[in-house]
Amino acid sequence: MNIVLLGAPGAGKGTQASLIQQKFNLVHISTGDIFRANIKGGTPIGKVAKSYIDAGKLVPDEVTCDIVRDRLQQGDLASGYMLDGFPRNVFQAEELDKFAHIDVCLNIDVDASFLMDRICGRRVCSCGESYHVSTLGGRTTCAKCGKELYQRADDNPETVKSRLDTYFTQTAPVAEYYKKQGKLINIECGTKSPAEVFELVSAALEGLGK
Ligand code: AP5
Ligand code: MG
Repeated sequence: MNIVLLGAPGAGKGTQASLIQQKFNLVHISTGDIFRANIKGGTPIGKVAKSYIDAGKLVPDEVTCDIVRDRLQQGDLASGYMLDGFPRNVFQAEELDKFAHIDVCLNIDVDASFLMDRICGRRVCSCGESYHVSTLGGRTTCAKCGKELYQRADDNPETVKSRLDTYFTQTAPVAEYYKKQGKLINIECGTKSPAEVFELVSAALEGLGK
């Protein structure tokens, strides 16, 4: 089963991807994580991506589509995969359909009023875990691996405003693209916890019977 995880910045795509990976054994492919690894490694792709990410804008389509096309050619995806953060506009969705088969798009639907606090309060670990300061009780290290937590460079109010604007103008229409294909499942999160959202996600995926 191949899934697209769609949702605003801070909606919980990464949080749900980690839970889906454990239960459904799908490979998690996050274009944001790939770009951040390239920035950290000082690669040519990282150098291109950094200025766009810092500004809350989309990295150019040709760079992003090439990365995903290459990643999907690797031989570890027989059990299926989740794309987190791709496609992020209708052009990317059309390109993806030229080199991949997507079974379902899960739209992690969260009221926009929650997003700024969630993102600016997020602390992450290099092992992939993510927390919110309100649940850390002053702890500064990862509960899973003990490493020091840090804040993503693009998790500041100014960049978040731009990321949200980019989402509403360019990414939200991707839901309609998958709706027209009969592949969209809307996960209405309301004020549900990550575990409660995952119950909805699990039910949706089990309902597909793949
Ligand atoms: P990317 O890394 O994809 O970031 P994003 O879409 O902005 O999403 P986030 O990772 O911020 O949020 P999330 O939905 O994963 O939420 P999380 O689970 O962490 O992209 C970064 C940048 O890379 C882009 O701006 C762009 O520049 C570039 N880029 C990436 N892909 C691209 C593409 N395809 N094309 C062009 N450019 C691209 O949760 C957030 C917080 O909320 C956490 O603290 C978490 O603990 C908490 N939380 C989660 N669920 C809940 C819940 N149910 N209740 C309460 N709190 C919750
Ligand atoms: Mg994420």
